[in-house]
Amino acid sequence: MFDFLFKKKTAELPELFFHTDVHCHIMPGVDHGSPDEETSLKLIESEQTWGIERIILTSHVTESTFENNPDTLAAGFKRLTDAVASAGNPIRLAYSAEYRIDALFTEQYKNGMLVKMPGDYLLVENSFIQEPWGLDNLLFDLKINGFKPIMAHPERFGYYYNDKKRYTALHDAGNLFQVNLLSLAGYHGADAKKIAEWLVEQGYADFLGTDMHHISHFEAIDKYLRSKDFKKLMPKLEKTVKNDKIEF
Ligand SMILES: [Fe+2]
Repeated sequence: MFDFLFKKKTAELPELFFHTDVHCHIMPGVDHGSPDEETSLKLIESEQTWGIERIILTSHVTESTFENNPDTLAAGFKRLTDAVASAGNPIRLAYSAEYRIDALFTEQYKNGMLVKMPGDYLLVENSFIQEPWGLDNLLFDLKINGFKPIMAHPERFGYYYNDKKRYTALHDAGNLFQVNLLSLAGYHGADAKKIAEWLVEQGYADFLGTDMHHISHFEAIDKYLRSKDFKKLMPKLEKTVKNDKIEF
């Protein structure tokens, strides 16, 4: 009868101001995210508990490890949309990719093989070791060729931590930033969390993404969304995050 005294109270989920995820690895069987359609459906359902209604699938395109191309991405999308339709799930899906800036990217760009997000956005990812050589020129070139580059999780690149002015320069040059909810949740460590919060405070968080690969990512984000930390950042995020403005 005193059970309630011992039950851990789960903090309530606030009503979210965005209903679109712009970065995740839920497309089945194309990278180290979801391995199959069944898992993809579970991950989609988990995001729906937050009120997510639309998801842009951004599987890795990375030299040597995940050499996806327009055909592999289209095939993965077909497998998933078929599974979603048979399950009668109302989620709205679109797809693009998370393009690591490497030799494969240069080749696919040159050959017109990049798959844009709706609205001509393109999610690009720096190397984790050092800033890609010629990054400014590349981003400029993408922009004059009709792409709107979004830098994936800039808070995860340690080489910027002692050079925050670089974030400002990149953002001032018209490059958009996508901050990971996982980083804000502390999943990538205390430094990434601190920098992610700083980016939000500066008004640089143009997009929020889950970067969800598996269910433990859902659990970490779910806990964070119910936290005081998130509630504190919500008013600022609401002003800058444009996830729902992408039309599809
Ligand atoms: Fe990712």
